[in-house]
Amino acid sequence: MSVYKSDEEVAIQRESCLLVSATITEVAKILKPGITTLSLDEMAETFIRDNGATPSCKGYHGYPYSLCISVNEQVVHGFPGKYILKEGDIVSIDTVVYKNGFHGDHAYTFVIGESTPEVLDLVRITKESLYEGIKHAITGKRTGDIGHAIESYTNGQHGYGVIRDFVGHGVGREMHEDPQIPNYGKQGKGKKLMENMVLAIEPMITMGTHKIYMLDDGWTVVSADQSPAVHFEHNVCVKKGAPLILSDFSIIEAAEKANSNLNSSYY
Ligand code: MF3
Ligand code: CO
Repeated sequence: MSVYKSDEEVAIQRESCLLVSATITEVAKILKPGITTLSLDEMAETFIRDNGATPSCKGYHGYPYSLCISVNEQVVHGFPGKYILKEGDIVSIDTVVYKNGFHGDHAYTFVIGESTPEVLDLVRITKESLYEGIKHAITGKRTGDIGHAIESYTNGQHGYGVIRDFVGHGVGREMHEDPQIPNYGKQGKGKKLMENMVLAIEPMITMGTHKIYMLDDGWTVVSADQSPAVHFEHNVCVKKGAPLILSDFSIIEAAEKANSNLNSSYY
C-alpha cells in the first residue's frame, strides 16, 4: 500500500487528525480528581461518533476501548476502567479516529493538580523532544534523523529512558503504515522521508529505565522500574523545507490552562 498521499488526501486526513485534537480537548475540559478513567472513554466515544467518525482503537486486535489512558508508570495502551483519578496523576490520552477513509492518531499527557518539579520537567522535556523530532520531518531526511533528535534530547541531555519496544509509524488509510519511526536512531540512517508521507511521531519517555513489561490484560505497557512515563504524539506531513503538523495542540493547551484541576505550570 502506498504511503505517499496526494495533497487532497492529506487535506482529508487532516480532518481526522483535528478530530483527535478536539477529542483530547474534550477530555482536558473534564479531567479532575475523583472521576474514573472509564467515564472519559465513554464521553470520548460519544464525541467521536457524534462527529461522524469511528474510534479506530475499539476492536483493533481486540482492544476494547476508544481511548488508551495510561496513568503514571503506565507508558501506553492503558485500559480505561474503574481507576479513580487523583491529585498528582500523570495521565496520557492516546486515541485514533477514522473518518472519510483516513485515520488520525495522536496523544497528549496531562498532570492532575500538584506534582513535583521532576515530573513537570519530564512532561515538558518529552513534549519538547517531540518538536525536536518533528524538525526532521522534511524531504531529504531519514527516519533515523527523527529518532536521533528525540533520543539525544531526552536520553542524551536528560538521562531519561527512551522506550524502544514501541515506535512511531506512518498513518493514513491504515492506522499503522510504513515507515516505522523509532525514538532512537542514527543521523542519516533509516528510511528516506518523501513528500506527503504522514507520520505519527510519538516519544514515549520514562524518568528511569527504557525497559517495559506488559500487564496481564495483554495491552497495558508499564515501565519496568515503575518510573513515571510520558507520551506525546503528533501527526506530521513531510514537506520540503518545513514540516506540516496536521494535529493541533493549541486547543488542547487552551483547555489544559483553563481547567484549574490540571497543572500547566511546566510550560
Ligand atoms: N496510538 C496507538 C498506537 O499507534 C493506539 C493504537 S489503538 C490500540 O499504537 F488499539 F492499540 F490501542
Ligand atoms: Co500511534
